[in-house]
Amino acid sequence: MPASSKALPPAPTETPDGSARCPYLVVRDPESVRDVLHRPADFSPANALVAVTPLEGPALRVLQRVGFALPPVLASNDTGSHGGIRKVVAGFFTPATVVAMEPRIRELARQAAGNAADQLARTGHTDLVERVAAFPPAVVMLELLGLPVRDLPDLKRWGLDSMELFWGWPDGDRQLELARSAAEFYAWLRRLVAESMAAPGRNLFKSLAEHGLSRTEMCSLGYFLLIAGQETTTQLISTTLFRLLECTAAAGWKDAASEGGARSAVRHVLATESSVPTWRRVAAHDTSIGDNRIPAGTEILLELSGNRITAAAGFETPGRQFQTGPGSSTGLIFGSGIHRCLGAKLAELEAIVIIQEAAAALPGIQLRDHEPAWIRHLSFQAPRTVSVMNRPG
Ligand code: HEM
Repeated sequence: MPASSKALPPAPTETPDGSARCPYLVVRDPESVRDVLHRPADFSPANALVAVTPLEGPALRVLQRVGFALPPVLASNDTGSHGGIRKVVAGFFTPATVVAMEPRIRELARQAAGNAADQLARTGHTDLVERVAAFPPAVVMLELLGLPVRDLPDLKRWGLDSMELFWGWPDGDRQLELARSAAEFYAWLRRLVAESMAAPGRNLFKSLAEHGLSRTEMCSLGYFLLIAGQETTTQLISTTLFRLLECTAAAGWKDAASEGGARSAVRHVLATESSVPTWRRVAAHDTSIGDNRIPAGTEILLELSGNRITAAAGFETPGRQFQTGPGSSTGLIFGSGIHRCLGAKLAELEAIVIIQEAAAALPGIQLRDHEPAWIRHLSFQAPRTVSVMNRPG
């Protein structure tokens, strides 16, 4: 440890308005964020999937009844088994597979934009989250994983509910509702895993079984991947659509009908308010970040993009954040190091194609609701709806 090292002040227990506890050390400086991500032996991902709000008895009992368990396999795995499991999953998202998927993504994007145009013509308005952003990423993910494309509305609902249960601030009653949804999802996953073992051809669960994973480990991986592999992309598309139509994106709605325009809008949103703006680590032992001593067990919140979540949650308490660098975290949006996102290329491609096709199919629209409700969880954000109508004239 450097001679000039200093201990951080104790963590505040309450945010300035007294509404929430802040158990995290917020790291904002991109160099420090990268440093933490590249030292997995010092900063473990073991807390990646831990509920932000501790679950209460009734919610826990609902989960226990279906045998719900999330043993560490991928995102939260800090053991030597991570590399091998990651390799199996990465085999379903190779750069060549992703590139080859582009025509299919475009086909789905055109269908979705066409459905939005039809609804607009029929009713005078449509919600672009529901019609354009929600389903194509889920279909693409299931097809790439060799899994049946079914129960999509349920999958979307389960994903949103589980994000709130594990990354939100639900009270006891809400926890119970969300736990029922998570239990339904988990039971569905268990059936899917069993069915996939006997299905013809290659699929994710067969490959994981061949690698030696147990059914519980496969359900844990599926629980994370079936949410992370599509809802985060839906949310990136939703925010980009909203900012484009609000005219605060890097490009205008008309420009977004070109690939270049769509790409710059998506990249701008990724850099400023990505759908996964933060991610967590925990100090595995007494260690340091630069000159600062970090005691074992310190929970760390890494800021990957923008700062809306940490600011909104009151997590910007002086003395408990690092902001010594230039402030841009581009390049860290999908994480970095051995746990870097396996879907980065796919997510960006899907977002660009879907935005481009929507802007091309719906040239004359404007926002109908300028202040939609937003998902604002610890590590996920997006407008819940992007309601539009035809521009007059
Ligand atoms: C806009 C969309 C997405 C964003 C912003 C995003 C962001 C992230 C971030 C920040 C991490 C943590 C990285 C770390 O700990 O260093 C992560 C991990 C991961 N993501 Fe994504 N992701 C997105 C879409 C996807 C998609 C589409 C897939 C799959 C098709 C995917 C699969 C994964 C996996 C498997 C991991 C865990 C990797 C590991 O632990 O080895 N993600 N993602």
